[in-house]
Amino acid sequence: MAEELIISTSTSKKEKYQTLIPQVESLIAGESDLIANLSNIAAALKQTMDFFWVGFYLVKDDQLVLGPFQGPIACTRIDFGKGVCGAAWKEKRTVIVPNVDEFPGHIACSSASKSEIVLPAFKNDEVKLILDVDSDKLDDYDAVDENALGEIMRLIEQKL
Ligand code: SME
Repeated sequence: MAEELIISTSTSKKEKYQTLIPQVESLIAGESDLIANLSNIAAALKQTMDFFWVGFYLVKDDQLVLGPFQGPIACTRIDFGKGVCGAAWKEKRTVIVPNVDEFPGHIACSSASKSEIVLPAFKNDEVKLILDVDSDKLDDYDAVDENALGEIMRLIEQKL
């Protein structure tokens, strides 16, 4: 495992993600423990992309339970279908919310959060965990984030 993350100095988020993704792949290659891998991925995303909040919620019985994350403290449990995270779980798809105040049922863990992207990871067609990224700016996430973070979710799925 590399000891230091190489972070692109480019101002383009696409290039930052392109530098990050192969490093994520090698970061998790030799480790089978899911929590250890999610912890390093959350840290690598925070360091590279400087997200306000980035972390995972794991499906446990009928709830999402807070997993490894970087950023301010967050709500620990989310019910099926509730908030943006619960919606991504229920609908089995990525959800991008440009303005959280306009999303019915948004769960405000921090009043500073303005926009959000949530992506699910699957095993046997079931959602096993979700990645949640929050921004303190409106409309901060687009198809570039969806594609790059999606690649990271596919890497995680290989370890599920
Ligand atoms: N806003 C999320 C809850 C999780 S926190 O943002 C970390 C939601 O509506 O599901």
